[in-house]
Amino acid sequence: MAESAQEFYGRWARLYDLIARETPGIARLRRRAAAACRLEPGDTVVEMGCGTGANLPYLREQVGPAGTVIGIDFTRPVLERARAATAADDNVHVLQGDATRPPVGEPVSTATDGAIDAVLATFVVGMLADPAGAVDDWCDLVGPDGTVVLANAARSEAWYAPPVNAVFRAIVVLSTPPTAKLRYTDAPHVRLDEKIDAAHARLRERAVAVADETHVLGVVRLTGGRLE
Ligand SMILES: C[S@@+](CC[C@H](N)C(=O)[O-])C[C@H]1O[C@@H](n2cnc3c(N)ncnc32)[C@H](O)[C@@H]1O
Repeated sequence: MAESAQEFYGRWARLYDLIARETPGIARLRRRAAAACRLEPGDTVVEMGCGTGANLPYLREQVGPAGTVIGIDFTRPVLERARAATAADDNVHVLQGDATRPPVGEPVSTATDGAIDAVLATFVVGMLADPAGAVDDWCDLVGPDGTVVLANAARSEAWYAPPVNAVFRAIVVLSTPPTAKLRYTDAPHVRLDEKIDAAHARLRERAVAVADETHVLGVVRLTGGRLE
């Protein structure tokens, strides 16, 4: 899965960047996700699976010039785009690494005091083998009173859901690596829903305060959790 995801996002980095930045409504969602991180000027935030870096400017806005933004992704071509887009911001660091074993606490801790105030992951947990386990690790990574925020697309539960879900299902089938339906042993949209449910549920269990929102016709779920 990791290899095919890297191959997929590597090949489609330029197109993905366009979709990630220009899809109608996406800028508003990214701004909301960054705000849900409850950051203060000077804070440190880590984005897991940052892709081409579409969230990074919103996170930088929240922490200001004295704060630190760290983006982590394991796909080199998307990281190159993220690095190019943030080259002028010396407090934004883009690192190659696995979001389930994030390379934080090493080089980054010299740029900060090692404390991480928030973790953000948008459209990533559905690609992980153990999404709930990753959420546990991210909750452990943020300090006391830290925040973890997840945003993910899953089937809508709204009353107008059937046509929306039909379109959503087609998009998932076409955009899930390896992108050839015959190679799947189970339906990717069902598997995706299960992973997203598990990740958001684990964050709700771990957090002492939770905020849940839906966006884009109920297809995008945003959950923010404040840790003890
Ligand atoms: C759908 S894209 C989302 C990118 C970005 N978060 C956004 O909202 O535009 C998923 C990204 O997660 C990355 N990714 C998936 N699994 C990962 C892992 N285990 N470690 C690091 N990056 C991962 C992929 O390389 C890809 O760039």
